[in-house]
Parts: sequence; structure tokens; C-alpha cells
Amino acid sequence: MKKTTLWATVASTLMFTSLAFAQGDAAKGKTLFADKAEPSCAICHNADSTEKKMGPGLKGLSKRAKLNNGKKMSEAALKEVILKGGGGMPGYEESLKPADVTDLLAYLKTL
Ligand code: HEC
Repeated sequence: MKKTTLWATVASTLMFTSLAFAQGDAAKGKTLFADKAEPSCAICHNADSTEKKMGPGLKGLSKRAKLNNGKKMSEAALKEVILKGGGGMPGYEESLKPADVTDLLAYLKTL
């Protein structure tokens, strides 16, 4: 009985961890956006409005049909903007780990 409970716990923990990894952690993404990314995204982007700073305000971003660069909105297109930058935005390919990018994407989806 005890053994079964233990295995169930281990299994569900593992499942939860891999799920969290695949989907990204929006809370961590928020910290990256506001502070941890170098330079922080918040220097150039409002997260709580569509008002332009240096870059476009990102509120409601994932509900838009297209990105500023003309690409259709998708996770892949957003990832490309973060990694490669362009149009005045720096690329983060060198400075962010893949897990950071996944967390940022999870956060951007909540805006
Ligand atoms: C130095 C200023 C600057 C920083 C720092 C910056 N961006 Fe940007 N970002 C821009 C500009 C300018 C654009 C508009 C590019 C264009 O028009 O194609 C942009 C575009 C974007 C877009 C596409 C928005 C749209 O409506 O098409 C996303 C998403 C984005 N940035 C996310 C981020 C994230 C996440 C970070 C931090 C990891 C970040 N940016 C850091 C300036 C910046």
C-alpha cells in the first residue's frame, strides 16, 4: 500500500515536471520580462497596455492576427522575434536559455 502511494507520487511529480517544462512557467517569464532578461523587455515594451514605448505594447498580443513584422501570429513566430529580434528589437539568441524563452512565451500568452 505504502509502496503504491510512493510510486504514484513519483509518477505524478515526474509528469507534472515535464508538463511544466513543455508549457513554460509564466511566472518565471514575467520576471524575465520585467527584470532578468538583459536588457529587460520592459525597457521597451508595456505589458499592460497597447501603448508604444520603444517597441509595441504587448497587451492582448497572442489574440492579434499578425505581428508587426507581417508574420501570422503563432508561437513559432513569437519565438523567432525573441531569438532574432529585428525592426529595432535586439535578438536574445545568445543571452537567453531555451527554457527562458519557453517561460517568456508562456508569459506573453497571458497578456
Ligand atoms: C531595445 C528595445 C527592445 C527590447 C529590449 C525588447 N524589444 Fe521587443 N520589440 C522592440 C521593437 C522596436 C519591436 C517592433 C519590431 C517590428 O516592428 O518589427 C519589438 C517587437 C516585439 C514583439 C512583436 C510585437 C508585435 O506586435 O509584432 C514581441 C513579441 C517582443 N518584441 C517581445 C520582446 C521580449 C519578450 C523582449 C525581452 C526578452 C523584448 N521584446 C525586448 C524593441 C525591444
